Amino acid sequence: MSTNQPSRCPFEHIKNPDLEAEQISETAELTVKLLDKRYPPPAQILRGVHPKSHGCVKGIFTVSPDIPPELQIGLFAEPGKQFDAFLRFSNAAALVGPDIDNTGKHGSRGMAIKVLDVGGEVLIDDNGANNQDFLMINQPVFAFANSKDYLRLDRVLDQQDDKADGFFAPLQLQNPAITEEQRRNILAYIEAEDISAEDIQRIADSFKIVGEIQSTPVANPLGVQYFSAAPFLFGQDRVMKFSAKPCAEVPPTEIPNPPAANYLRDALIEAVNRSDDLHFDFMLQVRGEGEDFGIDNEAIENASSEWDEALYPFVKVAKITIPAPQPEVDSDENIAHCENLAFTPWHSLVEHQPIGSINRLRKSVYQASSEHRLQRKDSFVQFLKKTFKSLFC
Ligand code: HEM
Repeated sequence: MSTNQPSRCPFEHIKNPDLEAEQISETAELTVKLLDKRYPPPAQILRGVHPKSHGCVKGIFTVSPDIPPELQIGLFAEPGKQFDAFLRFSNAAALVGPDIDNTGKHGSRGMAIKVLDVGGEVLIDDNGANNQDFLMINQPVFAFANSKDYLRLDRVLDQQDDKADGFFAPLQLQNPAITEEQRRNILAYIEAEDISAEDIQRIADSFKIVGEIQSTPVANPLGVQYFSAAPFLFGQDRVMKFSAKPCAEVPPTEIPNPPAANYLRDALIEAVNRSDDLHFDFMLQVRGEGEDFGIDNEAIENASSEWDEALYPFVKVAKITIPAPQPEVDSDENIAHCENLAFTPWHSLVEHQPIGSINRLRKSVYQASSEHRLQRKDSFVQFLKKTFKSLFC
């Protein structure tokens, strides 16, 4: 993987918030540390987040033939142009578990698109290829606003056995039922982490978003809308968020009762094995020219802030086709291929550079996660080869 430097983002150099560089490097280190704890050798290391795959499918990404001229930028420069693509559907949860947990809570679902061989100039190449990755979740906002909050989450996961509850502890100060000792501990935590009143407001926002995720049922990963949540450049002077929305209802549309542990995978396999192709509209919300989207702007720096669709409506710019049937989706080869892929928002044309605090954080963290898991995999394969050789030679 090589990186094109310097970055061409007009906002990147203006002013990164204090301590951001330190926050990013500590989060990348914690990502690797958490992976080592979750997957002690010789276990195969899975992704730092979104480790559970429902399946990887082949797709075709077609720029709309009638895309408005003002949106013909970057990947969307040529009306009607077609690209091959891979799509991976996943659960965001850091640990692989049942799709609905044993308390009946749902989770965040992911859709990652790798648009292949897009030409142009990319920020980071993908093993030598110029690919454009689009990573999305099934909520229009991300649960953690910025790199400061995400680091605090990772520290809690590290110290509290991969459980996130401690991140929300400051909200318990309002709870009259807590004991004096619990109150003292929470206050000590707030002081140690230098948590301000503004930070506590954002923790309350995160809590609300997590509650929404946990109560959002998804029957079929191919049947729901996904969002970038975070913003990206759209050329030199505009910014965008993107979304993929199924063009029609995709059966199965009901969650089985009781739900099987991997019912989302079952639904995906069933849907791609029918004879009808599946389609998503790929849409953009674009803001820009003259509007203030500078570095202090919530709309860019807070990934939990939603762009009002009434002001910034989604406009269709492309179509994703998933040709059916794809019986090979469930094959060992395809599953292995899917594990070997690495998606990052930084596999991107310069025109669509990721921006905002969460996206700056993602650059090193995705690299740390994918390099670590793929390295272990390679050394494990070498180890197996050597062992078999010494046994049989
Ligand atoms: C708008 C916010 C975000 C969205 C929409 C998003 C979405 C996704 C999706 C869909 C995947 C799965 C990619 C695949 O199928 O391989 C993924 C992977 C991942 N995400 Fe995020 N994510 C977001 C923010 C973050 C943040 C803030 C972090 C941590 C700093 C993070 C860390 C990771 C990691 C480590 C992986 C796995 C990388 C690998 O090993 O290949 N994500 N994300």
